[in-house]
Amino acid sequence: MPKTAVAPRRASAQDLAKEQREISVAEFFAKNRHLLGYDNAAKALLTAVREAVDNALDACEEAGVLPDISVKVVCTRAGTRAGAEPTGEDAPAPKKGARSGPAGTADRYRVTVEDNGPGIVKQQVGRIFGKLLYGSKFHRLRMSRGQQGIGISAAALYGQLTTGQPIRITSRIGDRKPAHVFELHIDTRTNEPKILKDSEDPAFASPHGTRVELELEGKYLGGTKGVFEYLRQTALANPHARIAFEAPNEPPHVFERAVKELPVASREIQPHPYGVELGALIKMLGTTKARRVSSFLKEEFCRVSDRVAEEICHEAKIQATASPHRVARSDAEKLHQAMNTVKVMSPPTDCLSPIGAEALEKGLRKEVAAQFYTSTTRAPSVYRGYPFQVEVAVAYGEPLPAEEPARLYRFANRVPLLYQQGACAITKAVIATSWRAYDLQHPKGSLPIGPLAILVHIASVWVPFTSESKEAVAAYDEVIKEIRLGLQECGRRVGGFVSKRRRLLDATRKADYITKYLPAIAEALRDLLELDEKETKKTAEILEHTLRKSRGL
Ligand SMILES: Nc1ncnc2c1ncn2[C@@H]1O[C@H](COP(=O)(O)OP(=O)(O)OP(=O)(O)O)[C@@H](O)[C@H]1O
Ligand SMILES: [Mg+2]
Repeated sequence: MPKTAVAPRRASAQDLAKEQREISVAEFFAKNRHLLGYDNAAKALLTAVREAVDNALDACEEAGVLPDISVKVVCTRAGTRAGAEPTGEDAPAPKKGARSGPAGTADRYRVTVEDNGPGIVKQQVGRIFGKLLYGSKFHRLRMSRGQQGIGISAAALYGQLTTGQPIRITSRIGDRKPAHVFELHIDTRTNEPKILKDSEDPAFASPHGTRVELELEGKYLGGTKGVFEYLRQTALANPHARIAFEAPNEPPHVFERAVKELPVASREIQPHPYGVELGALIKMLGTTKARRVSSFLKEEFCRVSDRVAEEICHEAKIQATASPHRVARSDAEKLHQAMNTVKVMSPPTDCLSPIGAEALEKGLRKEVAAQFYTSTTRAPSVYRGYPFQVEVAVAYGEPLPAEEPARLYRFANRVPLLYQQGACAITKAVIATSWRAYDLQHPKGSLPIGPLAILVHIASVWVPFTSESKEAVAAYDEVIKEIRLGLQECGRRVGGFVSKRRRLLDATRKADYITKYLPAIAEALRDLLELDEKETKKTAEILEHTLRKSRGL
């Protein structure tokens, strides 16, 4: 006799209540590590290296030190288990000669990144490396590679999840102090560090700096999405850095410093009234030390003068002398509206540190052989109140392949973006630009075809990444517009070069054709005018010279 199905017991609100509890951010990201860039073995290795190198560069620049960085990737075990392999546009090309486990398996690597930055004070090491969402860059408005406060602790978490090994940090803050070495785990339940080792390391040679060592599952691949390419492009956008790299089974490689000056240091700014969101404004009103709404506006925001503060209060129908702590919710909303309608000067832009059109073009020349180069740095602009600036460089001509889509290099705050090209505002802007106007082939909805390499850099106090893994820039209208304007400026110059070259080619072809008949014309003239040999030769020469001159050759 068939069994009657027993309906699952329905849970009561009390039953559900028993199961409801807080989720720690570490637990969340342990489950969702793909959000942080750890969704396949090859990308995971690249992401971990990138997080450590980006931090090293940021730390050196903040301390005013020319970065001297060493990166070492050693394969400690080949083919530990089947790793999720990337597919589609994110699939990296296998590196020629790179030795690792069989295809479809993840290997184990030890990644070491060392810098000559200011080091990290002992008391902070635990929280920096063992607590997700802890950092010095999130709350400030200033251009830097890091911004979220999750990068390096997420790398530690991934290493811990895949190998069980702790992250090891050696850091020294001055030659009078010994270096300290820590080993730690992240307690995912509490999102707190668990220090396993804390001792001195007399062998650490540099007077100041930090060494981060991680063991993780990954896959060392080459091609356009590998660690080598990331470092190569990093060197291109950071000519002031020296980066030494040791890859598995390959001779060491050094990306030498190309310039001896640090980029102009970016300055921290306050939020702009146009950018702040209502929730953030309410929070600021609650925590400010200012006693009056007018001084709150002046002290907590940039570009707010006495006059602008008064105008905002007047527009919002709020007393300028009222206490910010007593502003009611409905009044906060009015204040928010007024802040967005009153005319306020654009935010200052010394919070940005662009690479510069000249340096960008120099970098592109070093990396890409072509016939013609051009570049531009656009004037700073603003999205959601955040200042940003776009730079574009373009290379055109042989030996770049004529029948392939343009090569695209994307950078955000001097960091190369190697994944998620299709989802990025930079790609969207390149596709939306009409390259046909510049004498290039451009199939609808794709990159232009031709011997073209395009480099786009977006510099901002807060780059609007599409996810925590910082791989693609979100398509804000203002951002797309600025990128397009930069592309159009360079595109016009490329178009000028292409049509000039075509005109020259046409004229040469025609002149060559006519040149063939010049001896016959000279001979006819000889007979007509009864010239001797010398005069005939001279006449032929004059004819050729006149022809070339008239054709602009
Ligand atoms: N090599 C280093 N030298 C000095 N300080 C460092 C170094 N690495 C990290 N830090 C400090 O640790 C903080 C946390 O680093 P983490 O990479 O987690 O976040 P972030 O760089 O602020 O932002 P993001 O998540 O975008 O990378 C940094 O803000 C910085 O203050
Ligand atoms: Mg970081």
